[in-house]
Amino acid sequence: MSNGRSEAPRNKTEDDITTEVLERFSDTPDPRLRQIMLSLIGHLHAFVKEVQLTEAEWFKAIEILTEAGKMCSDRRQEFILFSDTLGVSMVVDLLSHRKPERATESTVFGPFHRLGAPDMPAGGNIAHTDEGTPALVSGRVLDLAGKPIAGALLDVWQAQPNGLYDSQDQHPEDLNMRGKFHSDRDGHYLLRTTVPVHYPIPSDGPVGAMLKATGRHPWRPAHIHFVVSAEGYEPVTTHIFDRRDPYLNSDAVFAVKDSLICDFTRHDGGAEGQRYGIGGPYFAAEFDFRLAPAAGGAVDVEDAQRRLAALGARA
Ligand code: BEZ
Ligand code: FE
Repeated sequence: MSNGRSEAPRNKTEDDITTEVLERFSDTPDPRLRQIMLSLIGHLHAFVKEVQLTEAEWFKAIEILTEAGKMCSDRRQEFILFSDTLGVSMVVDLLSHRKPERATESTVFGPFHRLGAPDMPAGGNIAHTDEGTPALVSGRVLDLAGKPIAGALLDVWQAQPNGLYDSQDQHPEDLNMRGKFHSDRDGHYLLRTTVPVHYPIPSDGPVGAMLKATGRHPWRPAHIHFVVSAEGYEPVTTHIFDRRDPYLNSDAVFAVKDSLICDFTRHDGGAEGQRYGIGGPYFAAEFDFRLAPAAGGAVDVEDAQRRLAALGARA
């Protein structure tokens, strides 16, 4: 039957098939979808031909994807973990958040953000635990000219001292190591927490199997997550990393940027710690966030927060 296309001889060489598939998608009405589909097919077919994929390998790939799908729930997103550990999330992040020179760089959102973190006063302690070493994290929220931004929202979350996020632990319904802080009139913020620890990403599924089979480890260097937002500025989703961490050069999800590494300095105690309820030694880190002006006018901060949270599939 004629469909207006050339009636070339059918199913022939592998290159004929690629040509025919590309032709079949070439009338996709939406130009962006057409661009994406044609490029995807071109790369996918080229990959299969380049590695001379066998039927057994193709079937294995289908099994892996099926297993990944079965693992996904509101508490686990195996496909995002694949994207993270293949470096795709960081490439998309870089393409999507090209920042002006002095703005704080972004990094992966990760799957462990939760809505509903409590509002906390300056110096509030996000760690409901006796484990771990106390830490004070402080700094300022500034614009690109170095002017303080008052009333910026800092949504903070962190793995517990045992290396698990609250949602992975025995009582996943309890919130721990999470809080929302605001910068003061001079742009200052201050929070109490524990020194972050390195921890392995979930590796009991197909992503873990891939890491093992390829000789990679699942560890993420110690970090604290932040989403910093303020009216009229681009929000930034980022982490701060502890400079002493042994995994800075081999983060399982490729999320470390030099500008996000900071020093956690030991203090033997003293008045500053005591003011925030710390009796003994503690560590202090300072980090300033610099926000770029919103590209298209004022940002709806609440909406940005909701969309970011929805990506993490946490309620
Ligand atoms: C995280 O830092 O919470 C994270 C990021 C990507 C994958 C897994 C965990
Ligand atoms: Fe994390």
